[in-house]
Amino acid sequence: MIRHIHLINWRSHENTKLEFGYGTNLLVGIMGSGKTSVLDGIIFALFGTFPQLERRQMKLDDIPRYGAPYAKVVLSFSWNGSEYVIERKIEKKGSRVLSRAELYKDGTLLENGPTAITKMVEEILGVDYDLFTRAIYSEQNNIDYFLSLEPKRRKEEFDRLLGLDRFEKARATAVTLTNRIESSAKLALEQYSPEKEAELQKSIAEISKKENEIEKGIRENEKMLETAREQLKTLSQSFETIEKNKKQKELLEREIATINGKLASLEEGLTVVDEREYEEKKQALEKTKSELERLRAAKREAQKVESDLKAKMLLVENKIKDTQKKAADIEKIESIIKNLLGGKTEEQIRAEFENGRKELETKNSERMTNLQTITKNRELIKHLAAGMNRCPLCETELGLEGMERVRKKKEEEIKAAEQRIAQIDRELLELKSRIAASEELLKKAELGKQKVAYIKQQLPEVKVLETEKKEAENLLKAAVEKTKKMEQEEKELERQIEPMIVKIKAMEENIRKMKAIAETKKRLAVLTEQHGRISFDESEYLSLKKSLEEKRIEEQKLVAQIQYSKKEYELIGQNKKAYEQELADLLHFKKKAEAMKMIVEELKIYKNALLETQVGLRKELIDAINNAMNEIWGIFYPYGNYKALRVNVTEKDYVFEFLENDEWKPLETIASGGERACAALTLRVALAMVLTPNLSWLIMDEPTHNLDRQAIALLSETLQTRVPQVVKQTFVITHEEGLIGADFSRTYKFDRDKGSMSPTKVEIV
Ligand SMILES: Nc1ncnc2c1ncn2[C@@H]1O[C@H](COP(=O)(O)OP(=O)(O)OP(=O)(O)O)[C@@H](O)[C@H]1O
Ligand SMILES: [Mg+2]
Repeated sequence: MIRHIHLINWRSHENTKLEFGYGTNLLVGIMGSGKTSVLDGIIFALFGTFPQLERRQMKLDDIPRYGAPYAKVVLSFSWNGSEYVIERKIEKKGSRVLSRAELYKDGTLLENGPTAITKMVEEILGVDYDLFTRAIYSEQNNIDYFLSLEPKRRKEEFDRLLGLDRFEKARATAVTLTNRIESSAKLALEQYSPEKEAELQKSIAEISKKENEIEKGIRENEKMLETAREQLKTLSQSFETIEKNKKQKELLEREIATINGKLASLEEGLTVVDEREYEEKKQALEKTKSELERLRAAKREAQKVESDLKAKMLLVENKIKDTQKKAADIEKIESIIKNLLGGKTEEQIRAEFENGRKELETKNSERMTNLQTITKNRELIKHLAAGMNRCPLCETELGLEGMERVRKKKEEEIKAAEQRIAQIDRELLELKSRIAASEELLKKAELGKQKVAYIKQQLPEVKVLETEKKEAENLLKAAVEKTKKMEQEEKELERQIEPMIVKIKAMEENIRKMKAIAETKKRLAVLTEQHGRISFDESEYLSLKKSLEEKRIEEQKLVAQIQYSKKEYELIGQNKKAYEQELADLLHFKKKAEAMKMIVEELKIYKNALLETQVGLRKELIDAINNAMNEIWGIFYPYGNYKALRVNVTEKDYVFEFLENDEWKPLETIASGGERACAALTLRVALAMVLTPNLSWLIMDEPTHNLDRQAIALLSETLQTRVPQVVKQTFVITHEEGLIGADFSRTYKFDRDKGSMSPTKVEIV
C-alpha cells in the first residue's frame, strides 16, 4: 500500500504531504491545481520517470518549482510486511541537472542511485515501468479510450496494452530480415556459375601436372649436382697440393733473393778487424776510464772539503757578529745602571743606605726614651695625692703650692715628650722610604751586574775567533786551487777518451757485420737446400687448373638450373593458389546462398511460431480478462439489464459486448455514458488483476470525462464501495466535485491561485 507522499518544490507543489489509505483515495481540484503532478510524483519515485518525461514533452529540469534549485519527492509504501521509503531529488547545478536517489527498507538504507533503485523497485514489486503504465496507471482521460477507437487502432492499442504488440513487432522484423536475406542470397547465387567452377578445376589439375614434371627435373638435376660436387672436391684437393708446392717454391726464391741483397750490402765497405788489437784498445780505454773515475771521486772529495770550509767560515763570521752584538748589549746594560745610580757610585749609595739604618736606630731609641719619660711622669702625677706635702721621690717638703707646681712641670714634660714622639714618627716615615729606595736601587744594580757577568761568561774571545777565521780562509784557498787543478786533469782525460771510443765503436761495428755475414750465409745454404727438395711440374699444374675451372662451371650451371626450376615451381604454385582461392570464393558464394536459404526457411518457421504464440497468448489473456470481468461486473453493475460484459476477439477488432436477454450485443450500440464508464472501469480493473495480480493497485486520472450527472453518481458509488472489494488501493483524480462521497478512503481537495503563480494548496475533506 502506498502510505504517504511528500512533494517539495515539485512543479506547482511547494511542500505537500499526503497520507493515503486502503480503498479509493480521491484527489479533487480545479484545472491546473496540481493533481496529475501527484501521480507523476508517485511514478517518478518508483521508476525515476513518468509518461510526459518518457514522451519528452517535459525535461527533468522542468520539474523543480519555478525559481527553486531542486525538487524532491519522498514516497512511503508497505509491501510484504516491510516499510519502504524512496527519496528522489532533482537538482539544478548551472546547466546540469543532477539526479539523486535513496531507498530505505524498515529505516535502513537499502540502495543508492537512481538506476539501481529503479531496478530494485522492479524486483521488489515484480512490475516494471512499462507494465505499470499499461496495467495500473491510466493516464488522464484514458479510461474509456478503447471504447471509442476505430477497430484497427483499437486492436493495435489493446494488443499493446496486453503486451502482444511485441509479437507483431517481432514478426515485422522477421519479415524484413527474410526479405533482406533472400535478396542477399540472390546476389550470392549470381556470383556463382558451374561452368566457371569446372574451368577452374581444370586449370588447377593442369598446374598440378606441370608441378610434378618440374619436381622430377629438380630431383634429377640435384643428383647430377651431387656427383659434380664430389668430383670437384677430389680435383680441388689435388690442385691444392700442387699449388701449395708452387707457392712454397716461389716464397723460397723470394727469400733467397732478399738474403743475397742483404749479404751484398753487409760486405760493402767492410774492414777486417784484428782481435788482439781490438782487445788492447779496449783495455787501454778501460784503464783511462777508471783513472777518470778515480780523479772524479777525488774531485768530489775536494769539493766537499771546500764547501765544509765555506760553511765553517760562515759559522765563525756569525759567531764574531754575535759576540760584537753581545758586547754592545753589555755596554747598554752598564749605561742603564749608571743612569739608575744617578751619578753616584754603588758604594756611595750603599753608605747612604747604612747611614739611614743607623739613623733609624738612633731615632727609635730616642722615641723609646720619650715614651719612658711619659710613663714615669704619669706615675708620679698619680702619687701626688692631695694633702701630700712631700715629694714621693726625694721626700722633700713641698707643700700644696709646691705640689701643684711639680704637677704642672711634669705635665709640661709629658706634653713635650709626646710632641717629640710625633715629630720622630714623621721623620721615621720619611727615613724608611729613603732606605727602601736605596735598597731598591742596590738590588737593580746587582741584577744588572749579574746579567753582565752572565753574558760575559758566555762570550768567546773575538781574537780566538779571528784566528780561527784566518786559518779557515787559508785552508779554503788551498782547497779551491786543488779542485781547479783536478778539473783540468779531468778535462785532459776526457779529451783522450773520446777518439778511443770512436775507434772501438767502428771496430765493433765491423765485428758485428762479420758475424751477420756468417749467419746469413748459413741461412742461405739452408734455404737453397729446401728449394732443391720441393718438386713442382708447371704443365701438370696448368692442366689440373683447367679441369678444375671446367668442373666449377658445370656445377654453377646445375645450380642455376635448379634455382630456375624452383622459381618456376613457385610461380606456377602461386597461380594455382590464386585459382584455388577463386574456386574457394566461388564455392563460398554457393554455400552462402545455400545457408541463407536455410535461414529464410527457419525465419518462416519462426514467423509462424510467433503468430501461433500471439494467437494463443491473446486467447489466454482475453479468457483471463473475460473471467475477471465476469467476476467484477456483477459487483460494479448490480442492475439486471446487462448480465455480463466480455471482449470478443475478431480478426480485425476487439469488440466489447454486453449480454442482454441472452444475446451478446456490441456495447457501442446500446450503452449509456454511465454504463460505458462502468464497463471501462471493469476493463481497467480486470487488466490490473490479470497483468499485475499481486499488486492490487489502480491509478486513474479523470475517469469522469464526458459523463453526465447520473453517470457520475453511478461511478462515484462504484469507486467508493465496489472497487475496494476487488482492488486494495485505488487513486482517482477528478475535477468533478460530484464524485465526492463519504466512503472514499481519503479525499483531498486541491486549489491554486493561478493568477499569482502561488503553490498548490491541499486540504483534506
Ligand atoms: N515547475 C513548475 N513550477 C510551478 N508550476 C508548475 C511547474 N510545472 C508545472 N506547473 C504548473 O502546474 C500545473 C500542472 O499541474 P497538474 O498537471 O498536476 O494539474 P492538474 O491538477 O492535473 O490539472 P488538470 O485538471 O487540468 O489536469 C500547471 O498549471 C502548470 O502551470
Ligand atoms: Mg491533470
